[in-house]
Amino acid sequence: MTPLLCLLLAQATTWREVAPLLDRHCNGCHRAGQVGPFDFTTYDGASAYAPEIARYVLGNKMPPWSAKPSPIPFSNSRALPEGVTAKLLNWINTGTKPGTPLPLPRRNPQWNLGPPDLVLSQPTEHTVSAEKTVDIVTFDISPKELGTTQSPRHFDALEFRPSNRNILHHAILRIKGQPIAAWAMCDNGIRLPRGIAWQLPQNAPLTVELHYFKRNLRAARDLTRIALYFTKRKPTRTASLLEITKLDIRIPAGANLHSEKTTFTLPARLQLHAVLPVFQLLAAELHLRQQGTEDYFLFIHPFEHHVMTSYQLARPLFLPKASKLEAEAIYDNSTQNQYNPHQKLREVRFGENGLDETFRIWLTVSQ
Ligand code: HEC
Repeated sequence: MTPLLCLLLAQATTWREVAPLLDRHCNGCHRAGQVGPFDFTTYDGASAYAPEIARYVLGNKMPPWSAKPSPIPFSNSRALPEGVTAKLLNWINTGTKPGTPLPLPRRNPQWNLGPPDLVLSQPTEHTVSAEKTVDIVTFDISPKELGTTQSPRHFDALEFRPSNRNILHHAILRIKGQPIAAWAMCDNGIRLPRGIAWQLPQNAPLTVELHYFKRNLRAARDLTRIALYFTKRKPTRTASLLEITKLDIRIPAGANLHSEKTTFTLPARLQLHAVLPVFQLLAAELHLRQQGTEDYFLFIHPFEHHVMTSYQLARPLFLPKASKLEAEAIYDNSTQNQYNPHQKLREVRFGENGLDETFRIWLTVSQ
Protein backbone atom coordinates (compact mmCIF):
# COMPACT_ATOMS: atom_id res chain seq x y z
CA MET A 1 0.00 0.00 0.00
CA THR A 2 1.33 3.46 -0.82
CA PRO A 3 2.09 5.77 2.13
CA LEU A 4 -0.57 8.18 0.83
CA LEU A 5 -3.24 5.49 0.81
CA CYS A 6 -2.23 4.42 4.36
CA LEU A 7 -2.63 8.00 5.50
CA LEU A 8 -6.03 8.28 3.86
CA LEU A 9 -7.25 5.12 5.47
CA ALA A 10 -5.84 5.96 8.88
CA GLN A 11 -7.93 9.12 9.15
CA ALA A 12 -11.69 9.23 9.17
CA THR A 13 -12.85 10.98 6.02
CA THR A 14 -15.38 13.76 6.67
CA TRP A 15 -18.17 15.31 4.64
CA ARG A 16 -15.77 18.17 3.91
CA GLU A 17 -13.79 15.86 1.62
CA VAL A 18 -16.68 13.72 0.42
CA ALA A 19 -19.04 16.49 -0.74
CA PRO A 20 -16.77 17.60 -3.64
CA LEU A 21 -16.23 13.96 -4.70
CA LEU A 22 -19.96 13.28 -4.87
CA ASP A 23 -20.43 16.61 -6.63
CA ARG A 24 -17.87 15.71 -9.26
CA HIS A 25 -18.67 12.03 -9.80
CA CYS A 26 -22.34 11.58 -8.86
CA ASN A 27 -24.39 14.75 -8.68
CA GLY A 28 -24.61 15.42 -12.40
CA CYS A 29 -27.30 12.75 -11.98
CA HIS A 30 -28.02 12.53 -8.23
CA ARG A 31 -29.74 15.84 -7.52
CA ALA A 32 -33.25 17.20 -7.91
CA GLY A 33 -34.67 16.91 -11.42
CA GLN A 34 -31.85 14.70 -12.77
CA VAL A 35 -31.85 11.03 -13.70
CA GLY A 36 -30.44 9.53 -10.47
CA PRO A 37 -33.04 8.54 -7.86
CA PHE A 38 -31.54 10.24 -4.77
CA ASP A 39 -30.14 13.70 -4.06
CA PHE A 40 -26.54 13.53 -2.79
CA THR A 41 -25.91 17.29 -2.72
CA THR A 42 -26.52 17.62 1.03
CA TYR A 43 -25.03 15.79 3.99
CA ASP A 44 -28.46 14.53 5.05
CA GLY A 45 -29.31 13.37 1.53
CA ALA A 46 -26.07 11.44 1.04
CA SER A 47 -25.63 10.00 4.53
CA ALA A 48 -29.19 8.62 4.48
CA TYR A 49 -28.13 6.36 1.62
CA ALA A 50 -24.60 5.56 2.77
CA PRO A 51 -25.07 1.74 2.75
CA GLU A 52 -26.48 1.87 -0.80
CA ILE A 53 -23.64 4.14 -1.93
CA ALA A 54 -21.08 1.67 -0.53
CA ARG A 55 -22.83 -1.29 -2.16
CA TYR A 56 -23.16 0.29 -5.59
CA VAL A 57 -19.65 1.74 -5.66
CA LEU A 58 -18.05 -1.49 -4.45
CA GLY A 59 -20.08 -3.52 -6.94
CA ASN A 60 -18.91 -1.22 -9.77
CA LYS A 61 -22.56 -0.45 -10.52
CA MET A 62 -22.18 3.27 -9.92
CA PRO A 63 -21.32 5.60 -11.51
CA PRO A 64 -22.85 3.93 -14.58
CA TRP A 65 -19.92 3.14 -16.85
CA SER A 66 -19.40 -0.33 -18.31
CA ALA A 67 -16.84 0.38 -21.02
CA LYS A 68 -13.57 -1.44 -20.55
CA PRO A 69 -10.40 0.67 -20.92
CA SER A 70 -9.93 1.28 -24.62
CA PRO A 71 -7.09 2.25 -26.96
CA ILE A 72 -9.08 5.45 -27.49
CA PRO A 73 -9.96 7.16 -24.19
CA PHE A 74 -13.49 8.44 -23.60
CA SER A 75 -14.01 12.09 -22.71
CA ASN A 76 -17.11 11.24 -20.66
CA SER A 77 -15.59 8.27 -18.83
CA ARG A 78 -17.16 7.94 -15.39
CA ALA A 79 -14.82 5.27 -14.08
CA LEU A 80 -14.00 6.21 -10.47
CA PRO A 81 -10.33 6.77 -9.64
CA GLU A 82 -9.26 4.30 -6.93
CA GLY A 83 -8.56 7.04 -4.39
CA VAL A 84 -12.12 8.31 -4.72
CA THR A 85 -13.63 4.89 -4.05
CA ALA A 86 -11.36 4.49 -1.01
CA LYS A 87 -12.40 7.88 0.39
CA LEU A 88 -16.12 7.28 -0.11
CA LEU A 89 -15.89 3.90 1.58
CA ASN A 90 -13.76 5.27 4.39
CA TRP A 91 -16.35 8.00 5.05
CA ILE A 92 -19.10 5.38 5.19
CA ASN A 93 -17.14 2.82 7.23
CA THR A 94 -16.13 5.39 9.83
CA GLY A 95 -19.66 6.58 10.49
CA THR A 96 -20.32 9.28 7.82
CA LYS A 97 -18.68 12.11 9.81
CA PRO A 98 -20.11 15.56 9.06
CA GLY A 99 -17.95 18.55 8.10
CA THR A 100 -18.22 21.86 6.31
CA PRO A 101 -17.14 21.61 2.68
CA LEU A 102 -15.51 24.50 0.86
CA PRO A 103 -17.98 26.19 -1.49
CA LEU A 104 -18.56 23.98 -4.54
CA PRO A 105 -18.71 25.30 -8.09
CA ARG A 106 -22.25 26.56 -8.65
CA ARG A 107 -24.38 24.37 -10.88
CA ASN A 108 -27.09 25.66 -13.14
CA PRO A 109 -30.19 24.27 -11.42
CA GLN A 110 -31.75 23.11 -14.68
CA TRP A 111 -29.10 22.45 -17.29
CA ASN A 112 -25.81 20.63 -16.72
CA LEU A 113 -24.27 22.53 -19.65
CA GLY A 114 -25.30 25.96 -18.33
CA PRO A 115 -27.78 28.51 -19.71
CA PRO A 116 -28.91 27.40 -23.20
CA ASP A 117 -29.28 29.60 -26.28
CA LEU A 118 -32.63 28.05 -27.19
CA VAL A 119 -35.01 25.77 -25.31
CA LEU A 120 -37.36 23.61 -27.38
CA SER A 121 -40.37 21.91 -25.86
CA GLN A 122 -42.60 18.98 -26.58
CA PRO A 123 -45.90 20.65 -27.58
CA THR A 124 -48.04 18.84 -25.01
CA GLU A 125 -47.49 16.47 -22.15
CA HIS A 126 -47.40 12.86 -23.35
CA THR A 127 -48.99 9.94 -21.49
CA VAL A 128 -47.51 6.47 -21.86
CA SER A 129 -50.52 4.26 -21.21
CA ALA A 130 -50.49 1.69 -18.42
CA GLU A 131 -50.08 -1.39 -20.61
CA LYS A 132 -47.26 -0.02 -22.78
CA THR A 133 -43.58 -0.68 -22.11
CA VAL A 134 -42.16 1.10 -25.15
CA ASP A 135 -43.70 4.17 -26.71
CA ILE A 136 -42.12 6.21 -29.52
CA VAL A 137 -43.35 9.76 -29.96
CA THR A 138 -42.33 12.29 -32.61
CA PHE A 139 -42.98 15.99 -33.05
CA ASP A 140 -41.62 18.76 -35.27
CA ILE A 141 -40.06 22.07 -34.28
CA SER A 142 -40.73 24.71 -36.92
CA PRO A 143 -38.01 26.72 -38.71
CA LYS A 144 -39.55 29.85 -37.15
CA GLU A 145 -38.98 28.49 -33.66
CA LEU A 146 -35.49 27.34 -34.61
CA GLY A 147 -34.72 30.78 -36.06
CA THR A 148 -33.73 29.27 -39.41
CA THR A 149 -36.22 30.94 -41.79
CA GLN A 150 -33.47 33.20 -43.21
CA SER A 151 -30.29 31.14 -42.81
CA PRO A 152 -28.98 27.90 -41.32
CA ARG A 153 -27.77 27.69 -37.72
CA HIS A 154 -25.31 25.39 -36.02
CA PHE A 155 -25.25 23.95 -32.52
CA ASP A 156 -22.42 22.03 -30.89
CA ALA A 157 -24.08 20.98 -27.62
CA LEU A 158 -27.46 19.72 -26.51
CA GLU A 159 -29.19 18.51 -23.39
CA PHE A 160 -32.55 16.85 -22.85
CA ARG A 161 -34.64 17.50 -19.78
CA PRO A 162 -37.66 15.23 -19.45
CA SER A 163 -40.10 16.12 -16.68
CA ASN A 164 -40.25 12.38 -15.97
CA ARG A 165 -36.74 10.97 -15.79
CA ASN A 166 -38.01 7.46 -15.14
CA ILE A 167 -39.43 6.91 -18.59
CA LEU A 168 -37.49 8.84 -21.25
CA HIS A 169 -34.89 6.30 -22.33
CA HIS A 170 -33.27 7.91 -25.38
CA ALA A 171 -34.01 10.32 -28.19
CA ILE A 172 -33.03 10.96 -31.81
CA LEU A 173 -33.10 14.27 -33.70
CA ARG A 174 -33.80 14.17 -37.42
CA ILE A 175 -33.83 16.62 -40.32
CA LYS A 176 -35.97 15.56 -43.30
CA GLY A 177 -35.96 12.01 -41.97
CA GLN A 178 -32.16 11.83 -41.67
CA PRO A 179 -30.88 11.21 -38.13
CA ILE A 180 -28.43 13.87 -36.95
CA ALA A 181 -28.05 13.54 -33.16
CA ALA A 182 -28.71 11.02 -30.40
CA TRP A 183 -29.09 11.36 -26.63
CA ALA A 184 -29.60 8.78 -23.87
CA MET A 185 -30.95 9.03 -20.32
CA CYS A 186 -27.55 9.07 -18.61
CA ASP A 187 -26.07 11.70 -20.95
CA ASN A 188 -26.12 14.77 -18.74
CA GLY A 189 -25.43 16.90 -21.79
CA ILE A 190 -23.48 16.31 -24.98
CA ARG A 191 -20.86 18.65 -26.38
CA LEU A 192 -19.08 18.00 -29.68
CA PRO A 193 -15.35 18.62 -30.05
CA ARG A 194 -14.32 22.16 -31.02
CA GLY A 195 -14.99 23.09 -34.64
CA ILE A 196 -17.66 20.41 -35.12
CA ALA A 197 -21.39 21.14 -34.99
CA TRP A 198 -24.80 19.91 -36.03
CA GLN A 199 -26.48 21.92 -38.75
CA LEU A 200 -30.06 23.16 -38.75
CA PRO A 201 -30.50 23.85 -42.48
CA GLN A 202 -32.46 26.90 -43.61
CA ASN A 203 -36.22 26.47 -43.42
CA ALA A 204 -36.27 22.80 -42.44
CA PRO A 205 -38.17 21.59 -39.38
CA LEU A 206 -36.37 19.55 -36.75
CA THR A 207 -38.03 16.25 -35.87
CA VAL A 208 -37.66 15.06 -32.30
CA GLU A 209 -38.15 11.34 -31.70
CA LEU A 210 -38.60 10.36 -28.05
CA HIS A 211 -38.23 6.70 -27.04
CA TYR A 212 -40.00 5.97 -23.79
CA PHE A 213 -39.40 2.80 -21.80
CA LYS A 214 -41.61 2.16 -18.78
CA ARG A 215 -40.71 -0.41 -16.13
CA ASN A 216 -44.11 -0.87 -14.54
CA LEU A 217 -47.76 -1.12 -15.49
CA ARG A 218 -48.85 2.33 -14.37
CA ALA A 219 -49.61 5.12 -16.83
CA ALA A 220 -46.91 7.82 -16.74
CA ARG A 221 -46.65 11.33 -18.14
CA ASP A 222 -43.76 13.38 -19.45
CA LEU A 223 -43.02 16.71 -21.03
CA THR A 224 -39.53 16.93 -22.46
CA ARG A 225 -37.54 20.08 -23.12
CA ILE A 226 -34.34 20.31 -25.12
CA ALA A 227 -31.56 22.85 -24.74
CA LEU A 228 -29.49 23.85 -27.77
CA TYR A 229 -26.19 25.71 -27.66
CA PHE A 230 -25.38 27.55 -30.89
CA THR A 231 -21.91 28.12 -32.28
CA LYS A 232 -20.74 31.67 -32.97
CA ARG A 233 -18.74 30.66 -36.03
CA LYS A 234 -19.50 28.35 -38.91
CA PRO A 235 -18.05 24.93 -37.97
CA THR A 236 -15.27 23.30 -39.96
CA ARG A 237 -17.09 19.95 -39.98
CA THR A 238 -20.77 18.99 -39.75
CA ALA A 239 -21.88 16.22 -37.44
CA SER A 240 -24.46 13.59 -38.32
CA LEU A 241 -25.58 10.17 -37.23
CA LEU A 242 -25.06 6.77 -38.83
CA GLU A 243 -26.86 3.64 -37.80
CA ILE A 244 -25.44 0.13 -37.54
CA THR A 245 -28.30 -2.27 -37.29
CA LYS A 246 -29.00 -5.96 -37.70
CA LEU A 247 -32.61 -6.90 -38.24
CA ASP A 248 -32.39 -10.66 -38.66
CA ILE A 249 -31.36 -11.48 -35.10
CA ARG A 250 -32.68 -14.73 -33.57
CA ILE A 251 -31.89 -15.34 -29.94
CA PRO A 252 -32.74 -18.91 -28.93
CA ALA A 253 -34.81 -19.51 -25.79
CA GLY A 254 -32.52 -20.12 -22.83
CA ALA A 255 -29.26 -19.11 -24.61
CA ASN A 256 -27.11 -17.20 -22.16
CA LEU A 257 -24.20 -16.30 -24.44
CA HIS A 258 -25.77 -15.80 -27.82
CA SER A 259 -23.67 -13.77 -30.26
CA GLU A 260 -24.93 -11.72 -33.19
CA LYS A 261 -22.44 -9.96 -35.47
CA THR A 262 -22.57 -7.53 -38.30
CA THR A 263 -20.11 -5.56 -40.41
CA PHE A 264 -20.77 -1.97 -41.38
CA THR A 265 -19.08 -0.32 -44.36
CA LEU A 266 -18.36 3.39 -44.07
CA PRO A 267 -20.12 5.31 -46.86
CA ALA A 268 -17.48 8.08 -46.91
CA ARG A 269 -14.27 9.21 -45.24
CA LEU A 270 -15.40 10.19 -41.74
CA GLN A 271 -14.35 10.95 -38.23
CA LEU A 272 -16.10 9.04 -35.46
CA HIS A 273 -16.87 11.01 -32.27
CA ALA A 274 -19.37 9.03 -30.23
CA VAL A 275 -21.23 5.74 -30.02
CA LEU A 276 -24.67 5.15 -28.55
CA PRO A 277 -25.70 1.49 -28.43
CA VAL A 278 -29.46 0.94 -28.17
CA PHE A 279 -30.48 -2.52 -27.08
CA GLN A 280 -33.29 -3.90 -24.92
CA LEU A 281 -33.31 -6.13 -21.85
CA LEU A 282 -31.42 -9.17 -23.14
CA ALA A 283 -28.21 -7.47 -24.29
CA ALA A 284 -25.29 -8.33 -22.03
CA GLU A 285 -22.20 -7.16 -23.94
CA LEU A 286 -21.26 -5.08 -26.94
CA HIS A 287 -17.98 -5.12 -28.88
CA LEU A 288 -17.00 -2.69 -31.61
CA ARG A 289 -13.77 -2.51 -33.61
CA GLN A 290 -12.33 -1.45 -36.91
CA GLN A 291 -11.87 -4.45 -39.20
CA GLY A 292 -8.23 -5.46 -39.31
CA THR A 293 -7.45 -4.22 -35.81
CA GLU A 294 -7.20 -6.51 -32.84
CA ASP A 295 -8.44 -4.24 -30.09
CA TYR A 296 -12.03 -3.26 -29.57
CA PHE A 297 -12.32 0.49 -29.17
CA LEU A 298 -15.63 -0.08 -27.43
CA PHE A 299 -16.13 -3.13 -25.21
CA ILE A 300 -19.14 -2.83 -22.94
CA HIS A 301 -19.71 -5.39 -20.24
CA PRO A 302 -22.15 -5.62 -18.59
CA PHE A 303 -24.59 -3.82 -20.84
CA GLU A 304 -27.14 -2.04 -18.61
CA HIS A 305 -30.36 -1.02 -20.30
CA HIS A 306 -31.56 1.03 -17.33
CA VAL A 307 -28.54 3.33 -17.25
CA MET A 308 -28.01 3.85 -20.95
CA THR A 309 -25.33 6.32 -21.93
CA SER A 310 -23.39 7.35 -25.00
CA TYR A 311 -19.62 6.90 -25.24
CA GLN A 312 -17.81 10.03 -26.38
CA LEU A 313 -14.35 9.47 -27.85
CA ALA A 314 -11.74 11.86 -26.46
CA ARG A 315 -10.13 12.05 -29.89
CA PRO A 316 -11.79 11.22 -33.18
CA LEU A 317 -11.28 7.89 -34.87
CA PHE A 318 -10.39 8.50 -38.53
CA LEU A 319 -12.26 6.10 -40.78
CA PRO A 320 -11.34 5.93 -44.47
CA LYS A 321 -14.10 5.49 -47.04
CA ALA A 322 -15.23 1.86 -47.36
CA SER A 323 -13.45 0.87 -44.15
CA LYS A 324 -15.41 -1.59 -42.05
CA LEU A 325 -16.60 -1.65 -38.48
CA GLU A 326 -17.29 -4.99 -36.85
CA ALA A 327 -20.00 -5.04 -34.21
CA GLU A 328 -20.89 -7.95 -31.97
CA ALA A 329 -23.65 -8.11 -29.38
CA ILE A 330 -23.92 -10.88 -26.80
CA TYR A 331 -27.43 -11.59 -25.52
CA ASP A 332 -28.58 -13.45 -22.44
CA ASN A 333 -32.01 -15.00 -23.02
CA SER A 334 -31.80 -17.32 -20.02
CA THR A 335 -33.32 -17.17 -16.56
CA GLN A 336 -29.91 -15.99 -15.26
CA ASN A 337 -30.69 -12.60 -16.80
CA GLN A 338 -32.61 -10.81 -14.04
CA TYR A 339 -34.08 -8.40 -16.63
CA ASN A 340 -35.37 -11.11 -18.98
CA PRO A 341 -39.00 -10.06 -19.54
CA HIS A 342 -40.07 -13.61 -20.42
CA GLN A 343 -41.05 -15.81 -17.53
CA LYS A 344 -41.63 -18.57 -20.05
CA LEU A 345 -38.50 -18.52 -22.20
CA ARG A 346 -38.94 -18.16 -25.94
CA GLU A 347 -36.95 -17.31 -29.05
CA VAL A 348 -36.58 -13.56 -29.40
CA ARG A 349 -36.27 -11.57 -32.62
CA PHE A 350 -35.90 -7.93 -33.60
CA GLY A 351 -38.65 -5.68 -32.32
CA GLU A 352 -39.20 -2.58 -30.24
CA ASN A 353 -42.00 -3.42 -27.85
CA GLY A 354 -39.86 -4.24 -24.81
CA LEU A 355 -40.33 -8.00 -25.18
CA ASP A 356 -38.19 -8.36 -28.28
CA GLU A 357 -34.62 -7.24 -28.85
CA THR A 358 -32.78 -4.77 -31.02
CA PHE A 359 -29.35 -4.46 -32.55
CA ARG A 360 -28.80 -0.79 -33.11
CA ILE A 361 -25.72 1.35 -32.70
CA TRP A 362 -25.78 5.08 -33.38
CA LEU A 363 -22.49 6.59 -34.50
CA THR A 364 -21.92 10.32 -34.23
CA VAL A 365 -19.62 11.16 -37.14
CA SER A 366 -18.43 14.29 -38.88
CA GLN A 367 -17.52 15.01 -42.45
C1 HEC B 1 -24.81 9.44 -15.34
C2 HEC B 1 -25.74 9.43 -14.24
C3 HEC B 1 -25.33 8.88 -12.92
C4 HEC B 1 -24.15 9.10 -12.22
C5 HEC B 1 -22.97 9.97 -12.63
C6 HEC B 1 -24.27 8.35 -11.00
N1 HEC B 1 -25.48 7.71 -10.96
FE1 HEC B 1 -26.17 6.56 -9.44
N2 HEC B 1 -27.86 6.14 -10.50
C7 HEC B 1 -28.16 6.66 -11.74
C8 HEC B 1 -29.41 6.08 -12.22
C9 HEC B 1 -30.11 6.40 -13.53
C10 HEC B 1 -29.83 5.19 -11.23
C11 HEC B 1 -31.09 4.30 -11.24
C12 HEC B 1 -30.75 2.98 -11.85
C13 HEC B 1 -31.94 2.08 -11.97
O1 HEC B 1 -33.05 2.54 -11.79
O2 HEC B 1 -31.74 0.88 -12.28
C14 HEC B 1 -28.85 5.25 -10.15
C15 HEC B 1 -28.90 4.51 -8.98
C16 HEC B 1 -28.01 4.64 -7.93
C17 HEC B 1 -28.13 3.95 -6.67
C18 HEC B 1 -29.20 2.94 -6.31
C19 HEC B 1 -30.44 3.59 -5.92
C20 HEC B 1 -31.46 2.56 -5.47
O3 HEC B 1 -32.48 2.49 -6.13
O4 HEC B 1 -31.20 1.86 -4.49
C21 HEC B 1 -27.08 4.37 -5.88
C22 HEC B 1 -26.79 3.97 -4.46
C23 HEC B 1 -26.29 5.28 -6.69
N3 HEC B 1 -26.89 5.42 -7.92
C24 HEC B 1 -25.12 5.86 -6.26
C25 HEC B 1 -24.28 6.63 -7.06
C26 HEC B 1 -23.01 7.16 -6.63
C27 HEC B 1 -22.42 6.99 -5.26
C28 HEC B 1 -22.50 7.82 -7.71
C29 HEC B 1 -21.17 8.51 -7.80
C30 HEC B 1 -20.02 7.83 -7.31
C31 HEC B 1 -23.45 7.72 -8.79
N4 HEC B 1 -24.52 6.99 -8.36
C32 HEC B 1 -23.28 8.30 -10.03
C33 HEC B 1 -27.42 7.58 -12.45
C34 HEC B 1 -26.16 8.01 -12.11
